[in-house]
Amino acid sequence: MNIKKKVFSMLVLLIFFSTSVSLLLAQTGKKKSDSAPQKQEQAKADDKDMMDLANSKGCLACHQLDKKLIGPAWLEVSNKYDQKDVDYLVNKIIQGGVGVWGNIPMPPNRGIVTEEEARKLANWIITLKSKKK
Ligand code: HEC
Repeated sequence: MNIKKKVFSMLVLLIFFSTSVSLLLAQTGKKKSDSAPQKQEQAKADDKDMMDLANSKGCLACHQLDKKLIGPAWLEVSNKYDQKDVDYLVNKIIQGGVGVWGNIPMPPNRGIVTEEEARKLANWIITLKSKKK
C-alpha cells in the first residue's frame, strides 16, 4: 500500500468516527429535551389504565368523563374536590350514597373494588380538572 492510499483510508476512518460521535451526541441531546413529551405519554398511559379499571369495575355504566349519565360526570366531580377529599371519596365509592348530586343513589361497590382500587380511582378522578382541554 502506498503512502497516499494509507493517508486516504485514515482520513475516511476519521470522518466516519467523527460523524458517528456527533450523531451520538445529537441523540443524547435530543433525549434530554424529549422528557416533557415522555411525561405526557406516561399521563396518557395512566389515563388509559384508569379507564380500563373503571370499565372493568362497571363504573362506566353510570359515569362518563364529561357527561352526566346516571351518576355525575367525573370532570364535574373533579371540579368539586381536591386532595383532602380523597378519603371521603374512597368511602363514598365503597359504601355508595346519595344526595350530593341528586336523588339517584350510587350503590355500594364493596366487593367490586378494593380500598386500594377505590383510592387509585379517587386520586385519578380529582386530577381530571387539570387535564380538561
Ligand atoms: C349504578 C350507577 C353507578 C355506578 C355503577 C357507579 N356510580 Fe359513582 N355515582 C353514581 C351516582 C348516582 C352518584 C351521585 C351520588 C350522590 O348524589 O351522592 C355517584 C357519585 C360518584 C362520585 C362522587 C361522590 C360524591 O359524593 O361527590 C364518585 C367519585 C363516583 N361516583 C365514583 C364511582 C366509581 C369509581 C365507580 C366504580 C367503582 C362508580 N362510581 C360506580 C352512580 C354510580
